[in-house]
Amino acid sequence: AKKVEEEGDPRNFVEKMERAGKRAVIFYGSQTGTAEEYAIRLAKEAKSRFGLSSLVCDPEEHDMNLLDQIPSDAVVFFVMATYGEGEPTDNAAGLMELISEPEPEFSLGESKLENLNYVIFGLGNKTYEFYNEVARKLDKRLSELGARRIGERGEGDDDKSMEEDYLAWKDPMWESFSKIMGVEEGGSGDVADFLVTEITDHPPEKVFHGELSPRALLAASGANTPSGGYGLKNPYPAPVLASKELFTVGGDRNCIHIEFDLTGSGMSYQHGDHVGIWPSNPDIEVDRMLSVLGLDSQDKRFNIIDIESLDPALAKVPFPTPATYDAIFRHYLDISAIASRQTIAFLARYAPTESAREKLTAWGTNKELYAKEIDGPALKLAEVLQAAVGDSVDANSDNAFSSTKWPIPFDRIVSSIPRLQPRYYSISSSSKLHPTAIHVTAVVLKYQSAASPVHHHEPRWVFGLSTNFILNVKHAHSGANTPASEQDNALESVTMKKVPSYKLAGPRNSYVKENVYKVPIHVRRSTFRLPTSPKVPIIMIGPGTGVAPFRGFVQERIALARKAIEKNGPDALKDWAPMYLFYGCRKSNEDFLYRDEWPEYEKELKGVFRMKVAFSREMKKPDGSKVYVQDLIHDLRSELAPLIVDKRAYIYICGDAKSMSKAVEERLTQMLGEAKGGSAEVEGVKELKMLKERNRLMTDVWS
Ligand code: 2AM
Repeated sequence: AKKVEEEGDPRNFVEKMERAGKRAVIFYGSQTGTAEEYAIRLAKEAKSRFGLSSLVCDPEEHDMNLLDQIPSDAVVFFVMATYGEGEPTDNAAGLMELISEPEPEFSLGESKLENLNYVIFGLGNKTYEFYNEVARKLDKRLSELGARRIGERGEGDDDKSMEEDYLAWKDPMWESFSKIMGVEEGGSGDVADFLVTEITDHPPEKVFHGELSPRALLAASGANTPSGGYGLKNPYPAPVLASKELFTVGGDRNCIHIEFDLTGSGMSYQHGDHVGIWPSNPDIEVDRMLSVLGLDSQDKRFNIIDIESLDPALAKVPFPTPATYDAIFRHYLDISAIASRQTIAFLARYAPTESAREKLTAWGTNKELYAKEIDGPALKLAEVLQAAVGDSVDANSDNAFSSTKWPIPFDRIVSSIPRLQPRYYSISSSSKLHPTAIHVTAVVLKYQSAASPVHHHEPRWVFGLSTNFILNVKHAHSGANTPASEQDNALESVTMKKVPSYKLAGPRNSYVKENVYKVPIHVRRSTFRLPTSPKVPIIMIGPGTGVAPFRGFVQERIALARKAIEKNGPDALKDWAPMYLFYGCRKSNEDFLYRDEWPEYEKELKGVFRMKVAFSREMKKPDGSKVYVQDLIHDLRSELAPLIVDKRAYIYICGDAKSMSKAVEERLTQMLGEAKGGSAEVEGVKELKMLKERNRLMTDVWS
């Protein structure tokens, strides 16, 4: 298959389909890889159900104006994520541009797609305003251009029910698909995607231990890398420059500040950008998975395996090879996520006992049971497999040993566990003040799950993978500059707190050099930016870690102020517009992020920068309720409204999407309605809409 692909025009998917005799092509609009995973799942299902093999393609790498040449006995799938405020993902921007034109010009010179059969599934998030905007728009345009949709348009909600939405959508879709395409079901639903071989004589330095790309490997080994070119597909192993805890409350609530060194990487960023951090799985999860599969003995664990795709169009090998079992589970597969219903159902066929098979089948097919016994208590895949054979998994213990081994072929493991993906954080520094450092501010995620029926009806502790990884890197990094004995203590202390914590998820072995820890990162551009002129007022609203990008914004203005003062003297800021920062935290002496920095910033940006803080567990409203950022905004409305209405202020909201940003928008709507001499419902709503359309109200929110 490789050879065929190398011939001809690599951007011509119609030609590729013809040559390989394929009747389906699946395009994905994917930013973080989720849509791509669903695209691959659809391809696999087409193969296992109907024996149909398909091409899985990145629209950015193909000429999408060839859609008019797809034959009428073929089908095009679109799996499209909506990103941010209704925007397409970067790799789908071109397709959306083409299709949105009033008269799109396809390859044959006409604006018609009358031969085209298509299937469409959208990935969106209901907490955002423009839910599944991209899939909806594409669907509408394709049908306007004469194309025919197969089945219903699927829409998945990333906030709650992506997996369930997908499962509910796909079966009826496949039924219509089989009718329209004239293909019969008949597969077993189980085909091998990969060929796995254990190899014995391999030069050890060529084995992957967690590096993310050959270039990253070069960098980690200290060799020279060409500058630039690091990104999502090639993250940079960035040395940790500094790290500290911004606060620790009672040992169970921590917030970490960590700085990554970009020196020599050729990487750059701007205030408001995001950084993707590539975490590793913690020891306990790696050990548990290896034990469940019987790969935990020292001689097995570090065996070197090679994986080859049997059909590269259908399944790409998700990590560099050869690699060891240990490295694969530690660095490449997402074994720390809650096990999906689909994976559980699929693995039932490999159960070592009849009763385990029944259990997996029940969890895999019964939604309510799955919600109660797996999803609620947040069981990971290896824990599910242990629970199914009656191995007692003590939620809060470090014992990962499994007495019953599951005979699952390794290629099926690679197929059914998703790849470990980067997690994104708003950068909390300014590149003007820190050109070679990226700062990240992260609250460590740790919470109690619903009571678990398979764990004596006790709740379990759930640890966010990436933020606990950062916490561990922080401990390791601070430990690295102290003697080895204390270093052990630093690591140990993580596990000794009242709340059990995840043991070193670990910087990748090969990234630790002379006590410098490295974490693979890449920068994702955003549109969350300051206006160029400091004479435009800005209003920043960011409680909790939502303040992160605003620390960058303020630093950005500090850098500009220093220059201005150097050039024009101390009065240089006289005509600068005000910068408001509304911040919120629980208590002034507890979780107040960067408490010591803000007064310094206020001093340097005298008369310009104003910070207002809502201490929600200190201050009270007259009726006894909590004071939040939106209340401070409301109190200051007579000052703020004219800035927005008359002075064209920019407004930025960052932080929790579910309740905070909604509540803030409500208060803004009310304030603007009043200022316009009308009501919140009419004038207020209109004004807010206008601000959004003109990019004068921007959000960077997450759920
Ligand atoms: P709370 O925890 O006392 O309820 C950062 O998390 C800050 O945001 C905390 O002070 C938190 O208050 C506050 N917060 C919680 N819910 C909020 C909401 N809906 N709107 C604004 N702030 C909120």
